Amino acid sequence: MHTSLLIIKQEHLRLAALLQCLDGIMRDVAAARLEPDFELYYAVIGYLETFLFRYHHPKEDQFLFPRLRERCSDAEALTRDLEQQHERGYVLLDGLRNSLQMYERHGGEEQRDDFERAVHAYHTYEWEHMRIEESELLPLVLEHLTEDDWREIDREFSSNADPLFGEETKEEFRRLFREIANRAPAPHGLG
Ligand SMILES: [Fe+2]
Ligand SMILES: [Fe+2]
Repeated sequence: MHTSLLIIKQEHLRLAALLQCLDGIMRDVAAARLEPDFELYYAVIGYLETFLFRYHHPKEDQFLFPRLRERCSDAEALTRDLEQQHERGYVLLDGLRNSLQMYERHGGEEQRDDFERAVHAYHTYEWEHMRIEESELLPLVLEHLTEDDWREIDREFSSNADPLFGEETKEEFRRLFREIANRAPAPHGLG
């Protein structure tokens, strides 16, 4: 498989694992099996924000979508939709952070329910977005991109020279991911 596609799929899996972890913890908190761990919630949201802003979406927006549009005019609507979904994701993440701040400040059941709803809304959005990318976008790029396109895109995706995707950034993300995994109680840890 092309390196860039492998990277996208691995990053989707990682996002899905984080969201599952947060969801499971929220369920246990709602059932009074766990105490809320605000530091962990902030760590997950911070990871999602930086991961998506600096790492995942820019690669799709800058390299994959424009090249597909060049090769396949039918992909215009789909890639524009996906770009808009990226923007919407940032708004939903903002909502998640705001509801978490309210929950931390006031700590009531109502605020906890609001935060839970925001987690659910974000989870549903991200799941659907990844589903569309994997089931509609990836088959199109596989069909229309040329070998030269793949060489270039694979190089960009795995480039260590770019400060955005460099080794230091990767190491920072690995460290943050490990931290969250270690802090999340069983059975919700990321292993
Ligand atoms: Fe995306
Ligand atoms: Fe994606």
